[in-house]
Amino acid sequence: MDELQAVQWHNGKVRLLDQTKLPQELVLLEISDYHGVVKSINSLAVRGAPAIGVAAAFGVVLAVCNADEVDRAGFITRANQAIDALKQTRPTAKNLFWALEKMRNAMSKNLNKPLREVKNAMLRQAQDILNDDIARCKKIGEHGAGLIPFRCTVLTHCNAGALATGGFGTALGIVRAAIEQGKKIKVFADETRPLLQGARLTTFELMEDDIDVTLITDSMAAYVIKKGLVQVVVVGADRIARNGDVANKIGTYGLAILAKEHKIPFVVAAPLSTFDPDTESGDDIRIEERDADEVRRIGDVLIAPEDVQVFNPAFDVTPNELISALVSERGVVRFPNEEKLKDWLK
Ligand code: MRU
Repeated sequence: MDELQAVQWHNGKVRLLDQTKLPQELVLLEISDYHGVVKSINSLAVRGAPAIGVAAAFGVVLAVCNADEVDRAGFITRANQAIDALKQTRPTAKNLFWALEKMRNAMSKNLNKPLREVKNAMLRQAQDILNDDIARCKKIGEHGAGLIPFRCTVLTHCNAGALATGGFGTALGIVRAAIEQGKKIKVFADETRPLLQGARLTTFELMEDDIDVTLITDSMAAYVIKKGLVQVVVVGADRIARNGDVANKIGTYGLAILAKEHKIPFVVAAPLSTFDPDTESGDDIRIEERDADEVRRIGDVLIAPEDVQVFNPAFDVTPNELISALVSERGVVRFPNEEKLKDWLK
C-alpha cells in the first residue's frame, strides 16, 4: 500500500482518510464544503495537529473556490466565515491557527488581483502547507534519528505518524528515519484511551510499513519501562509554549515522569508550526475538553453507568524540565528552556 495519506486535494474536493473507521475500514471521505471539514475535524475523522492544519487550509479553499468572481466583499466574507468556524474546532492544536493565518495572508496579499487569481493563490498556499509539512517531517526524522540508539525499543503515545501529518510523521518519522539508517528499532504503542489512537492508528500504520510494533494498554507503560523493555520515549506535540512546555495527548505527562524516574530519554518531535512563542508557558495553553461519552464508551459500547460524571481533557502539559530533547525541522534542542528556544526560534 502507498504511504497512508490523511489529507489530499482531489478534483476540487478535500479527500480525507476517515480515521474514526480505521483500522477496520479504509473509508475515503470526499468533502465539498468547509462545513464538512469542520465536522471531520470535530469528529476526529482527521486528527493530529499538523494534519488538522492541512485539512483546515483546504477547508478555506472550499469556502472560496465557487465564490462569485466579481463580488469582492462576498468573497472576503466567505473566507472569513470559514476561517472563524475552523478556528472553533480544536483549540489546543497550534498548527490549526498557524495554517489559517497563512490562508488569511494568502488572501489579503493578493486582493488587488482578479478573484480567480486570489483563489489560485489560496489553493497554492494550502498545497504548500501540505507539501511543506511532509518535508518538515522528513527533516525531523533525520535530526531525531541521531537520538535513537542503534538497537532499541521506542515507546510512543497516541499517533504522531503519517496519519497525523501531511505524511511520514513526527515521532513516527523519527522511527522511520532511524530504520532507514539501518538501526534495529522496535516500537511499543500505548493504546491511548479514550479514543485509542495508539491501538487503532499507530499499530496500523507501523504494521503497514512492516515495523515491529507491540500494543500495550496505557496502564502497562510503567511496568514495561521498569522492566527495561524501553530505551527511549518519543512523542509528538499539539502546542509548544515559549519555555518549551509541551501540550500533547492526555497521558503524555505521565510518561515523561516515568522516563525521568527510570532515567531514559523523553523526546518530543514537532514542526516549527507547532511552536507558539506567544504563549509563555504550559499553564497558558488552552486544553480541549471533549464529550463525556468518549470516556463512558469504547466505540459504541457503553462501559460505565450512562449518567456517570466524566472529566475528559484531550491533552496534558509536560513541563520542560522533563524533556530531554525537542526535535523540529531545524534540529535538536536538548533540555529546552525559554533561553535556548529564543535563540533557536529566531
Ligand atoms: O486528539 P488527537 O488525535 O488529534 O491528538 C493528537 C496528538 O496528541 C498528537 O500527538 C499530536 O497532535 C502530534 S501529531 C504529529
